[in-house]
Amino acid sequence: VKQEDLKGIKILITAGPTREYFDPVRFISNRSSGKMGYKIAEAALERGAEVALISGPVSISPPEKLHLFHKVETAEEMKNKVNELFQWADVIIKAAAVSDYRPKHKSEHKIKKSDEEIVIELVKNPDILKELGEKKGEKILVGFAAETDLPEGNAREKLIKKNLDMIVLNDVTKQGAGFEVDTNIVKILYKSGKIEEFPLLSKKEVAHLILDRIKAILKERA
Ligand code: PMT
Repeated sequence: VKQEDLKGIKILITAGPTREYFDPVRFISNRSSGKMGYKIAEAALERGAEVALISGPVSISPPEKLHLFHKVETAEEMKNKVNELFQWADVIIKAAAVSDYRPKHKSEHKIKKSDEEIVIELVKNPDILKELGEKKGEKILVGFAAETDLPEGNAREKLIKKNLDMIVLNDVTKQGAGFEVDTNIVKILYKSGKIEEFPLLSKKEVAHLILDRIKAILKERA
């Protein structure tokens, strides 16, 4: 039914974790598998959109027929690639779990074990989505929020701070939601203050829901 209903729309999606190295073989990262973002890419392609996928390190395969597929490791690399494609995109969906911090120093050599305790100092990473929000223009910006406490309040704050059209909240403490699993339980929060709540669904179903909402925004504007 939904075939080709996003034809001509250019969608940029980020997925997966970032890796922030403190020596050549060690890094700080998180549990993102990339599944949520990759399912959005797959669903958008099925609906005729042109899709660019920027992915952190994951072990799943990208769908075929992407306009562009680019793998990155660090938040800095993700930021640069996202910025390169910003002008091209009509819609940007940031499902990636970007590390908010990175080690201040990256040792050139593998850190050797000694009797001393070591401390890894962290500095702030750029907030990619917030920077996009500042130059948003007519583009539709969709964020994700992975929360463990006060989920709705935190998600609303991110929605406003980052100037998003909507934010998809997954309470990652719930069984069957968030990282790694094939399903998700989400709420979608809108700029208007509206909140929609959904039951346990496959990530593919969640992907289509998000695309339906984007389509509605596009239609409203036309
Ligand atoms: O990959 P899966 O295993 O399928 O899991 C899916 C998921 C839980 C990773 C995904 O659905 C999700 O919630 N992604 C966002 C996780 C996250 O980093 O949330 P956050 O609340 O830290 O960030 C909020 C938003 O800002 C996100 O859209 C994020 O991409 C963006 N961000 C965050 C930090 C940063 N430095 N730059 C950003 O752009």
